[in-house]
Parts: sequence; structure tokens; C-alpha cells
Amino acid sequence: MILVLVGPPGAGKGTQAKLLCARFGIPQISTGDMLREAKRSGTLEKRYLDIMDSGGLLPDEAVIGLIARRTVEPDCSDGFLLDGFPRTVPQADALDEMLASANQGGKRIDAVIQLDVARPLLEERLIHRRTDKRSGQIYHLVYNPPPPGAELEHRADDRPEAVAKRLDAYEAMTAALLPFYEQKKLLHRVDGVGRPEEVTHRVLSAIGRPGSGGE
Ligand code: AP5
Repeated sequence: MILVLVGPPGAGKGTQAKLLCARFGIPQISTGDMLREAKRSGTLEKRYLDIMDSGGLLPDEAVIGLIARRTVEPDCSDGFLLDGFPRTVPQADALDEMLASANQGGKRIDAVIQLDVARPLLEERLIHRRTDKRSGQIYHLVYNPPPPGAELEHRADDRPEAVAKRLDAYEAMTAALLPFYEQKKLLHRVDGVGRPEEVTHRVLSAIGRPGSGGE
């Protein structure tokens, strides 16, 4: 199964990705996580680091190469879930080419899931997000508070000025992405407001795989 999660920053892509990957036994591939890992290990180019921290989008070629290498690893042979890629039509075209290529054995996307959440709630979710450095678990200081002892990280791009820039960038650059997948009849729009388990249940129903999701 190949799933693609799209949606604005804070829509819950990372939260849903973890629940869906556990449900289907497939790996989560998050360009944001891969870039933050490169940042931690000091391998992310300075110009990309600056773009990320200020809330901009990296050039397409910077992320296409990451995905091309990651999706041919052995754990992806039975499918994977893409979280945060593609974000633009050139990235979506590149993904189709990768999947159709000989080394991916003519794979196809099963479903593209768009999580819908209104902007004021997105801002509120991002500004109060914290991530456990050790486990990668995502928390929210109000809705899903971290347990005592968690080693919390506040993302540089979750500062209010960067959040506003990311939301604007999403609206501007992904406006063409949704019609692209709508035309291919792959797009499922899901209300991303409610308990995470409720949202998972909606996603599973939307893609024709109800009956699980932990509700
Ligand atoms: P990335 O890491 O992909 O960030 P993003 O798209 O901005 O998404 P987020 O991780 O901020 O939010 P999310 O939707 O995963 O929400 P989450 O589940 O954490 O990218 C970061 C940067 O990398 C980009 O800005 C760009 O610079 C670069 N980049 C990455 N991919 C790129 C690409 N393809 N092209 C170019 N550049 C790229 O949830 C958010 C909060 O809400 C949490 O606190 C969570 O606990 C809470 N929450 C989640 N669900 C619920 C719920 N149902 N109810 C209540 N609270 C909830």
C-alpha cells in the first residue's frame, strides 16, 4: 500500500502517519523528519537550514533526491506512507516517475489523503507542539500533554513568525497539488478536527479500509 498524506502544517500529518503506519505495517517517510535528522547530524547545507528554520519550502530537487533514495530501501518493498511529500506539482510528477521506474517495479499510489483543519486551529496546534527528542512522539501542551521526564524539543519553525510563513507557503505552493490528485481520482479529503483516533477512523473509511483505527 502506498499512501500520501497532504495538508497544511499542523494538520496532524505526523500524528496520523504514526497511527496509519502501525495499522498497515508500512514505514513512515517524512521529508520534514529526514531534514531535521540531517540538521541534527550536521549534514544539512546551511542554505537549506536557514530556509527550514524560517518556515520556507526547500527547492524541489533537494527533497526529490531524498525520497528517490529512501523509497528503494528494502523496508519499502510492501509499501510506505509519505508524510509531507509531495508538496508541489513538480514533486508529484517526480514521484510518479520514481514509482513507474524499473527499480520501483511499476508501483502506484493507492490514496492521497488531505487533512482539513482551519487556520486558527493550525496556529494553535503548532505553537503548542513539543516533540520527545528520544522517541519522536508528538505532543501538544494542552490537548496531549507530554509525560513527566519526556525530553522535549520545540521546533525552530514553530515560532509564531515562522508558523505564519509556513501556512502562507502551503497555501501558495500547494494550491495546484490538490487539483492534480483530484484529476487522478486519488484525493480523499478528511476532516482533521477531533481526537486523533477519530481522525484515523475517518481516514480508514475514506480509503475504503474501515474496521480499525482504535476508536
Ligand atoms: P514538515 O516536518 O513536513 O512540517 P509541516 O508540513 O509544516 O507539518 P508539521 O510537521 O508542522 O505538522 P503535521 O501536519 O505533521 O502535524 P503534527 O502531527 O505534528 O516540514 C518542515 C519543513 O521541512 C518545511 O517547512 C520545509 O522547510 C521542509 N520540507 C519538508 N518537506 C518538504 C517538501 N516536500 N518540499 C520542500 N520543503 C520541505 O501535529 C501538530 C500538533 O497538533 C501537535 O502538537 C499534535 O499533538 C497536535 N495534533 C495533531 N492531531 C491532533 C488532533 N486530532 N487533535 C488535537 N491536536 C492534534
